[in-house]
Amino acid sequence: MEPKQYTPPLGHAALTPLYDVAIRYLTREKTWRSALAKQIDLNAGDRLLDVGCGTGSLLIDLAKSCPDTELIGIDPDEQALAAARAKAREAGASVQFIPGFLENAKLPAGWYPNKISSSLMFHQVPYAEKSMIVDQMRGLLAQDGEIHVADYALQKTRMMRSAFRITVQSLDGVEDTQHNADGILERILVSEGFITDKTMSFSSLTGSISLFKAVKIA
Ligand SMILES: C[S@@+](CC[C@H](N)C(=O)[O-])C[C@H]1O[C@@H](n2cnc3c(N)ncnc32)[C@H](O)[C@@H]1O
Repeated sequence: MEPKQYTPPLGHAALTPLYDVAIRYLTREKTWRSALAKQIDLNAGDRLLDVGCGTGSLLIDLAKSCPDTELIGIDPDEQALAAARAKAREAGASVQFIPGFLENAKLPAGWYPNKISSSLMFHQVPYAEKSMIVDQMRGLLAQDGEIHVADYALQKTRMMRSAFRITVQSLDGVEDTQHNADGILERILVSEGFITDKTMSFSSLTGSISLFKAVKIA
């Protein structure tokens, strides 16, 4: 069977070594990533799963801010995971990186996260899979658990739509990304049994990046 396809971090495998620099300078990374970390509010004892962790930047920041936690990142891209492992080693950050998609990643037996995060992953995922991944996240989450997402969601203004088109869509293609620009995340993150908020949006040279928080309620 053909291995399942996915879009690599910058749209093309050859560009992966440039990923961290591109994100740092083109997306106002410090601003949105620190807002995401603050929103996640990692506490001692938390178990956090980052889906589509790429080169591991979020998890490494989180591990440094609160070491007494269990942090796992999954991603189908081995090249990105190799970079993530090297960065974590260098930073002395305790993070486990596991290859695969959410439906087949080999998480430790009986390990259920109380927090699930995902940054800049959903816009790369095919239409039908986006809600499948959200459902899988909800299924895995412990009671009172939280989902935290940062991604290109609805691009409200003409300027943000153009920025998104000439940067992200030129690398990742239009087919999977357009649904995000049209507001699919605003719809699929909402579900019965969850209180979901779009908490913040940040304009950038690559389009608007929005943060979402979904809390599982009893
Ligand atoms: C733009 S990168 C974001 C990486 C990282 N989360 C960050 O914030 O820098 C998107 C990542 O999602 C991964 N990805 C793409 N499709 C995926 C899927 N269906 N399931 C999980 N990860 C996926 C890619 O391999 C890539 O590493």
